[in-house]
Amino acid sequence: MVNVPAEGHDGDMATRYYTASSLDGFIATSDHSLDWLLKQDIDDDGPMSYPSFRAGVGAMALGATTFEWIMANNGSWDYTLPAWVFSHHDVEIPDGANIRRVKDDVRAVHAEMTAAAGGKDLWIVGGGELVGQFADAGLLDEVWVQYAPVTLGSGAPILPRSLDLELLDVARNRDFLCGRYRVVGALHVAAESLD
Ligand SMILES: NC(=O)c1ccc[n+]([C@@H]2O[C@H](COP(=O)([O-])OP(=O)(O)OC[C@H]3O[C@@H](n4cnc5c(N)ncnc54)[C@H](OP(=O)(O)O)[C@@H]3O)[C@@H](O)[C@H]2O)c1
Repeated sequence: MVNVPAEGHDGDMATRYYTASSLDGFIATSDHSLDWLLKQDIDDDGPMSYPSFRAGVGAMALGATTFEWIMANNGSWDYTLPAWVFSHHDVEIPDGANIRRVKDDVRAVHAEMTAAAGGKDLWIVGGGELVGQFADAGLLDEVWVQYAPVTLGSGAPILPRSLDLELLDVARNRDFLCGRYRVVGALHVAAESLD
C-alpha cells in the first residue's frame, strides 16, 4: 500500500530520489554496469545537474548494492554528507566515513535523516526497491530523473511501484532529458467503460 507523502516538512525540505535512467526505465544493467551512463555528456552547470541538486541535500540513503558499486568503482567514500546504508549483511564501512548501516524500517531512518539534515533535503540514492519502500511509507516527495539516450532491455528497475506522479519541470541537459516529478500517491485508474 502506498500512502500520500506526509505533510509537515521543516520549511521546504523534501525527500527526493535523484537518479539517471535508461529510456526504458533501468538505472543499471543486470550485472550492475553504468558504462552506458558514464559515456554520456552532461553540463555540470546546466539544468537539473548533480552539483545544483547536491547543494540542497543534507543527508543521503542508499542500498547495499549501490554502496558497494560506489566503493568498487571510486575506490573510496568521498561524501561528507551523513549517509545511511541499508543492508542485512556486514557491509564494510571505511574508517572515518560518516555512514550508519541500517536495516528494515525506513520510517525510523527517515526520522534520523531529517534530524541530521539541518533543514536541507534528503536524497534517496537508490536502488529502486529501496526508494519504493520510502514511497510505500508516504515519505517520498519527488523523483528527479536524467534520461540517457539508450535502452537496456533489462536491468535494475528505476522504481518498481505503481505511483501517480505530477510533472513539475522538464529540461534538456546535453545528452539527457531531465524530468522532475512530485509524488502524488498510489496510482488509481478508473475502470475502463465497456459502453
Ligand atoms: N543510474 C543511477 O543514477 C543509479 C543510482 C543509484 C544506483 N544505481 C545502480 O543501480 C543498482 C541498484 O542495485 P539494487 O537494485 O540491488 O538496489 P540497492 O538498493 O542498491 O541494493 C539492494 C540491497 O539493499 C539492501 N536493502 C534494501 N532495502 C533494505 C532494507 N529495508 N533493509 C535492509 N537492507 C535493505 C539489501 O541488501 P542486503 O542483501 O545486504 O540485505 C538489498 O539486497 C546498482 O548497480 C547501483 O550502482 C544507479
